[in-house]
Formats: sequence, C-alpha cells, structure tokens
Amino acid sequence: MTDKIANDPRASIRNAFADAREFTTSPLYRSLARVVAEDDALLDLAARGRAGQYPTFLFFGAVHHVLLSGVDHPLAAFFPSRVADPAPAEGQAAGAALRSFCAAYEWELTSLISSRLVQTNQVQRSLALRYGLATLLPETDGTPVHLIEVGASAGLNLGYDRYGYTVGAQRFGNPDSPVQLAAELLGDGPLPDLDTLPKVASVLGVDLNPIDIRDVEDRRWLEALIWPENHDQRRLFSAASELIAADAPPIRAGDAAVVLPELAASLPAGEPRVVYHSGTRMHVPAHHLDAFDAGIESLGADGPLWWLSLEDAPDPALPRSSDRFGAALNLRGPDGERRTLAVVDGHLRWVEPMPW
Ligand SMILES: C[S@@+](CC[C@H](N)C(=O)[O-])C[C@H]1O[C@@H](n2cnc3c(N)ncnc32)[C@H](O)[C@@H]1O
Repeated sequence: MTDKIANDPRASIRNAFADAREFTTSPLYRSLARVVAEDDALLDLAARGRAGQYPTFLFFGAVHHVLLSGVDHPLAAFFPSRVADPAPAEGQAAGAALRSFCAAYEWELTSLISSRLVQTNQVQRSLALRYGLATLLPETDGTPVHLIEVGASAGLNLGYDRYGYTVGAQRFGNPDSPVQLAAELLGDGPLPDLDTLPKVASVLGVDLNPIDIRDVEDRRWLEALIWPENHDQRRLFSAASELIAADAPPIRAGDAAVVLPELAASLPAGEPRVVYHSGTRMHVPAHHLDAFDAGIESLGADGPLWWLSLEDAPDPALPRSSDRFGAALNLRGPDGERRTLAVVDGHLRWVEPMPW
C-alpha cells in the first residue's frame, strides 16, 4: 500500500467508484462513478451505507430512487429512465449535475443510503426455480411439497407459476401472462418439461428485510436498483410487480439461520420440502455461512429435503458447449448428493442443461 492510499481514509470506497466495472450494461453509471471517485463530498455521502452493502449499487440506487420520484433537476436529462432522448453522460455537464443533485437532495439520499439494502429481485430467476421443481418432481412420488424461498425479497420468484416462458423454441407456463420470460437454450442436454411441476402444499418466503411490493416506496426502491438503461428489465419488473401485488406470497422477516429451524418444527413430519435461494447466499458474510447452511439443513430433520440454489460458479469440469460466464443451478437431494442441473446466465438470459 502506498503512503498516499494509507493516508486516504476514503481509499476503499474511492477504489470501488474508480473502477465500477460491475455496471456492465450501464455506461451512465460507469461514467458517473468516475465523478464520484474524484469528489470527497460525494464519497462521504456514499460511505453512509450499512456495513457490507456494496457502495456503488447503494449510492446509485438512492440517486435513481429520488429521480424516479419525479423531482425536477438537470440530472434527469442524463437518465434514460426519465427522458426518451438522454444527454450523453461523458463530459463536464453530467458531473456538475450529479454534484448539484447530491447537494440539493443530501437529506433524502442519506436517509436512503443509510437505511436501504441492495435487494434486487430478478423475476427472470423464477425460471431457475421452475427448472429445479420440474427436475425433482419424479423424486417426490407426486406428494405435494412445502416450498420455501430464502432471500425472497419481494417474492417475485415465488410467482413462477404465473408467468410464461420461452426456452429456445419451447414454450411453457401461461402464454397469456403479462410477464413473458425468454431464455436462449445452449448445448444438447435435455430440457425438462417445465409444465410438469410438483403440487405445492405451502409456500413461504423468508427475508432479512422483506419488500412489500404493494408499498409505493418499497416498489420504487426495487425499481431504482434497475439500471437506467435496462428498459426491458424495468418493463418485466413492472408487470411482475402488478401481478404479485394482487396476490402476494407470505414472506417472513428474519435471518434464515434463525427462522428456518423454527419453520422446520412447524412443518408436518415426513412431507417433502424444497428450499430455493438465488443471489442470496453469495451475500451472506463468511462468518455467518455455517449458521445459514445449518438453518437450511434443519428443514431436512423431519422430512425429505431438496435444496435448490443458484449461487455458485460452475465447476470447470462440467461438460459445457460454451465458455460463457455463468452460474450453476445446483440441486441437493434427500440422499445428500449434489448435482448441477444446468449452467445458466445469472439473470437467466440463457440456459445450458447438463446431459444427465
Ligand atoms: C440480492 S437479493 C436477491 C433476491 C432474489 N433471491 C433474487 O434472486 O432476485 C438477496 C436477498 O437476500 C436477503 N438475505 C440476505 N441474507 C439473508 C439471510 N441471512 N436470511 C434471509 N434473507 C437474507 C436480502 O435481504 C435480499 O433481499
């Protein structure tokens, strides 16, 4: 570490903004992040988030949230989510607008940054849940399953049975649903019949901080976490929110490590359970992972448990047709054997079924 960095109390947060390559599909945020990296007042604002929250996502989520509330400010002219023909973000004007915006709305931004969590809810990931359910059906002998999603956020994934899906050339689900999800199909592996699913005995989401999709501010926060350029994602989110708000699944507030053992004690003994989590375990701090996993394991104490997850990088030894960067859809059955069902894009834009 150089003396310059050692003497800079803002060094780690400055680094996060200086190279914000996580904003793959947002040139606007990549450009504005460089402005933040060079401005101590903006860095101090961004640093007001809770420990463990990723500062770039939180900061731009807060800025976007205030803009989406409809405020009249020159910064809006750079946001494709606010105007049809946005001004280019490179150059002095966008940086000046961001500084002026943060000064004008410092109170609102501080309040959001210090209280909110990065809680995106990607409705496309319901395809992973549906895929897993279709795969495990033959193993359940047709007995209805108790379905639990850990890290359910607003519960959009638990609406998996209300959406339509196109995977490659095959269609599944409800063709008339306002939420139509599409994924490219890669490789030669067999795609399960996504219309043949287990019956569900009960459904429950669990989240540290459930999002109430019927609440205007909660919904706007999730919308604000969608990057301004991602119009398709915003349209899907909006349609899914409407659908789920009309009949929202129950979501229990609490840490999976605490809530799941309590839940396990209340499930009817012997009946099958399926637990699903996507983009959740990857956010659990290292010192808490054993407790998180033990919470999930507790669900299997009194009945057969299928543990479906979309979190990990795929094993490099898997037989794949492409080297696209993806995640493993893993299933661990009641016998304790874990297998990768498919390698998928993190947002389910493509799916590669494994050959088994
Ligand atoms: C990035 S979001 C992903 C949401 C959703 N699973 C999806 O795929 O779109 C992660 C969610 O996990 C929740 N979460 C993180 N740690 C948790 C824990 N220990 N117990 C319960 N929920 C947790 C967060 O509150 C957040 O809503």
